[in-house]
Amino acid sequence: MTSDSEIMKPVGIFDSGVGGLTVLKALRERLPNEDFVYLGDTARLPYGTKSATSILRYARQAARHLKLRDIKLLVIACNTASAVALLELQEELAPLPVIGVVKPGAFAAVEACPAGRHLVLATEATVNLHAYGDAIRSLDEAADVRELPCELLVALAEEGWTKGEIAEGIVREYLHPFFAAEQSRPDSIILGCTHFPILRPAIRAVAGDGTRIIDSAGTTATAVEELLRSHGLVREEPGSDGRSGLELLATDGARRFARVGGTFLGTALVAADVRIVDL
Ligand code: DGL
Repeated sequence: MTSDSEIMKPVGIFDSGVGGLTVLKALRERLPNEDFVYLGDTARLPYGTKSATSILRYARQAARHLKLRDIKLLVIACNTASAVALLELQEELAPLPVIGVVKPGAFAAVEACPAGRHLVLATEATVNLHAYGDAIRSLDEAADVRELPCELLVALAEEGWTKGEIAEGIVREYLHPFFAAEQSRPDSIILGCTHFPILRPAIRAVAGDGTRIIDSAGTTATAVEELLRSHGLVREEPGSDGRSGLELLATDGARRFARVGGTFLGTALVAADVRIVDL
């Protein structure tokens, strides 16, 4: 039997930066009574070009910081950190439940396009580990998966250049080899990086209507709800003020976090909303 004080604890989420706020947004919609504490490791962004050793070290520090804040579940809202560190963090933090975004993303892709041809857009580290390829093929042996590192798209999203000629030009440069021949066009494009959902309009403009665009935020929120429920940890009632609480932490640059993060979260933020912490 879970105690009330366990249920009242917040859900912890971390990402290398502000991209994971797209996952937080989906979580808040799905679980409106929960409190959340979000940590963006902005001092060390990007993770995607770093070695697995560094990514694992950063992910461990971020996870331990959140664990000390007495969370009831940890969401690794970063594809790169999920690809590198999920198993280690699940082992180290047990019995705290820990969930990543890669498996829910793979599940969403397989559900949308069974036996499909999938193109995964992700960071170098996620692609080098074949995190999505392995996850998709473990769910659907007939799937055809190609994985493409797109580091410039992280920079575009961070800069807020998400629409128009420049964004579409860069997306086209990455995608055109996969769309050159009609018979090999992907059935799905998987946004295998938390920064990419805000580039969806540019990706749609280049890919056209015949390709599904898959984002793991919604399926991750569903998976988090199921995991909370299986541990008896879902908060069914809103807090006493009728609103769920949100604490935003970053390791550097509160003003930049607020400016860029507002776009990802879909809510205007100011620097005072963000607390700077040292890991
Ligand atoms: N958050 C990372 C991911 O989802 C992208 C940014 C980075 O490279 O740190 O893979």
